Amino acid sequence: MKATIDKIITDIDQFVIKDTKSLEDFRIQFLGSKGIVKNMFGELKSVPNEEKREVGQLLNNLRLHAETKFASFKEQLETAASSDASLDLSRPGDSDEIGSRHPLSLVRSEIIEIFERIGYAVSEGPEIEDDWHNFSALNFPPEHPARDMQDTFFIEKGENEMALRTHTSSVQVRVMENSKPPIRTISPGRVFRNEAISARAHCFFHQVEGLYIDKNVSFADLKQTLLYFAKELFGEKAQIRLRPSYFPFTEPSAEVDVSCTICNSKGCNVCKYSGWLEILGCGMVDPNVLEACGIDSKEYSGFAFGMGIERITQLKYKVNDLRLYSENDVRFLKQFTPGM
Ligand code: PHE
Repeated sequence: MKATIDKIITDIDQFVIKDTKSLEDFRIQFLGSKGIVKNMFGELKSVPNEEKREVGQLLNNLRLHAETKFASFKEQLETAASSDASLDLSRPGDSDEIGSRHPLSLVRSEIIEIFERIGYAVSEGPEIEDDWHNFSALNFPPEHPARDMQDTFFIEKGENEMALRTHTSSVQVRVMENSKPPIRTISPGRVFRNEAISARAHCFFHQVEGLYIDKNVSFADLKQTLLYFAKELFGEKAQIRLRPSYFPFTEPSAEVDVSCTICNSKGCNVCKYSGWLEILGCGMVDPNVLEACGIDSKEYSGFAFGMGIERITQLKYKVNDLRLYSENDVRFLKQFTPGM
């Protein structure tokens, strides 16, 4: 009996399992209900009583041996099957949805590129600003209405007054404080105003600020730079016009209109039948601002301008509701493909 068991163990060890068919043959031959192991247990009753315990133990080992081989080959065949499938080079790949760039990012990049071509560098500043950088250095008188709670989100009032910046002009101040002329910089960024959200107003939006400081910078340089910008952005036919305006930090100041690209200045509801669209504010940097930022206003002059990215995007892509930009509606966003 013991010799037979040893022989069966050798048979088990030598049995070649190479596929599911031979695995099943193995199971039937050794572990099936009419298989060898079961048979051997059946013969236990003819074993003399005093050997029963020892032989029973050997038979248990035999069964375990067969079961272990079966289980390990079964597992090997299963993992081989699944890894074979992952090696199937003809299977279609997993599809990853490619997102699209946000229209505001597209327009911001375009504006940056246009100014980089004429030597402007990009600079950035914090969205949480102190009173000095957002207002005081920019020549806002203490009682100016723009400091009013209506417009500004204050974070801390009093001595260490902190607020969400209301415009990117705060970055002008930081650049002038930290570098020497000549300065040519544009500063894109998010700004905040305490306004009720509607199709035409939002509590946050994006601006691009421009600043040029050097010796003998004139208003003519400003006009030429803005005309170049309008033609690059809206096409060779674009014209600009300047209307006198007021900003505390520029003198003289102007608002700039571009000829309506939607109706070719014939008159439409976007330009309110005037043929012109307002796109930015600008002016010569007020000498008070230069001095506040440590630049000698007798030696240097310069100009600044600021525009809203949402406004330009509205004109380029005919988006007429500001809220669409921040609602994350995929149906809106996917219209702007990466190449656009
Ligand atoms: N900061 C102004 C605004 O937010 C725009 C501006 C920038 C005007 C620079 C003149 C010069 O409306």
